[in-house]
Formats: sequence, C-alpha cells, structure tokens
Amino acid sequence: MGTYETRPHFLPVVNRRLAVLVSGRGSNLQSIIDASARAELDATVAMVISNRAEAHGLSRARAAGIEAMYLRPGDYSGRDDYDRVITRLLKDRDVDLICLAGFMRRIGAPLLEAFPNRILNVHPSLLPAFPGLDAQRQALEHGVCVSGATVHLVASELDSGPIVLQAAVPVLDADTVETLSARILVEEHRLYPEAIRLVLEGGWELHGRRFIRPRDGASTRQLQAGS
Ligand code: GRF
Repeated sequence: MGTYETRPHFLPVVNRRLAVLVSGRGSNLQSIIDASARAELDATVAMVISNRAEAHGLSRARAAGIEAMYLRPGDYSGRDDYDRVITRLLKDRDVDLICLAGFMRRIGAPLLEAFPNRILNVHPSLLPAFPGLDAQRQALEHGVCVSGATVHLVASELDSGPIVLQAAVPVLDADTVETLSARILVEEHRLYPEAIRLVLEGGWELHGRRFIRPRDGASTRQLQAGS
C-alpha cells in the first residue's frame, strides 16, 4: 500500500479544470459534461484524451466544444514516455483533476507524481471486490447478491486507491452481464460527478486508506440507489 497523507487537501476555489481520459463509449464523460452544463458540478472539462482513435468519447467531447486528442501509444517509447506527454499537455492547460472514465491503460509514476491524489477512476464493482477487467462478469460468476460502482483515488496498484464514494445495486437471478452492467452504469453516472464535486470541494483528509470528509464524521459515503 502507498503512503497517504493526513493533511487536508484543498484545490483552487475558482476555475477548476478537469481532464477526462477515455478509451471507448464515454458515457461517464457525458455524465460529467452534463453535470457541469447543469451547474451541478462547478468545474469545466478542459480536455479529453484517448488512447484509441475510434473512442466515441472523443466525438462526445468535440460535440460539446471540448478539446479532444487521440494519443497513439505506439508513437511513444513506453508507458512512462506516454504518461509524460499527457502530464505536459494537462499542466499546460492548468488541469486540477484527472478523471479516468473507461481508460484502458495503467497510469504510471510520471502522471501519479505530477497529480498526487488528483486522479480519480470509476470502477463497476464494489471494490476491493472484482478489480480489473470484466468486473460485472466476475460478480455474476461469483454469485454475489449485491454489486455496485466505486469512485476512488488512483494509486499505482490497479483499482486500489482510497475509496471516495460507492453505490450498491442488487444482483437479480435473471441478470446477464448486460443487465447488471446497465444497472451499475446508472449508478456510475450519478456517482462520478458527485465524487468529483466532493474532491474539488476540498478539506478532506486521508487517514490511511480512508477518505474522510470535513465535519461530517456521521455521514455515509454510500449513495443509496435512486436517492
Ligand atoms: C464503465 O463501466 C467504467 O466503470 C469502466 O469502464 C466503463 C466505461 O464506460 N471503468 P463509459 O466509456 O464511461 O461509457
């Protein structure tokens, strides 16, 4: 486990700028763009980057007037080189927070060090259960009765950083990977903008792995389905 600081984290109060990294469909990107447009999220998506040219997330970004860039991994000598280019692009654009939204690449040291505790990810299970690929299939095959979505800070180990918010959904007897994924996705779309808002609000602390919000020790970080 990495070392986590206990001092309160604050981000600039105005002009908070997000970057979203995608590889595919981009429905979570869309939920962030929509929350920002509805002023539910006091932040702007400044840039979208994809490692796949055909990612629909790139078209969604362009349709919203957001700078969108495809970075072909094969053009770089390795992961660190790729991450250094992303770091430079995002620093040049004064990005405060990076949101991974279906980004199918591991994040390496250059990006983690340039944005310490400033990278979020959404994962379609209740972590630490079912990290990695095909989380919904893993949950079904394991036979759990409850699964859900997690937004967490990104650390060097895959799907391992401190948990910011979780939402649970039931697993039904008739579920397929598709129906369970759809139920979880509804929660992802609610959870991600809310978690971004919490992180941007600042004042939170990390106690070990625990993400502790200011002055709300009695509250829950599980969003109830439909609430
Ligand atoms: C989501 O299920 C997310 O949890 C996972 O990848 C999927 C991305 O979907 N990491 P989308 O591209 O945001 O529609």
